[in-house]
Amino acid sequence: MNKLLVLSLLATLGACSSKQGEVVADGAENYERYCAGCHNPGPGHGATMLLAEKGRPVPALIGRKDLDYDYLHSVVRQGLIEMPPFRATELSDPQIKEVYEYIKTAEPPKQEPALPKS
Ligand code: HEC
Repeated sequence: MNKLLVLSLLATLGACSSKQGEVVADGAENYERYCAGCHNPGPGHGATMLLAEKGRPVPALIGRKDLDYDYLHSVVRQGLIEMPPFRATELSDPQIKEVYEYIKTAEPPKQEPALPKS
């Protein structure tokens, strides 16, 4: 089944119930809203290109298994060089946790090289 469809179904289910464990869709939505523009794989995504230049083995966030939560949380709250910080009114601590869980558990996309071959 189409992955986006699954995610939107999960989101709908999540909205109907207060059951625990439906956080994946929220994490995915917030990732798409707040992070994807800079951090998705491939050229044209500033953060991915920068992190590729810095030699991260997986330059996009999705599919990285080496990030720990405290590090990600402090980068999101304080920003990092060119990355802007997010306030708690934009992204709460539980929402950061959900984004983190999503990044850790989502299927890594096929990684296009972030930097053009020279
Ligand atoms: C406006 C673009 C932009 C947005 C939006 C953005 N980032 Fe970043 N992010 C960056 C850049 C650029 C870097 C690389 C900073 C550097 O080291 O120079 C970065 C670095 C990071 C790092 C450090 C990775 C490493 O290998 O050290 C983490 C973690 C991170 N971002 C998480 C997030 C999360 C989670 C979100 C969404 C809530 C997000 N970012 C949104 C631009 C962005």
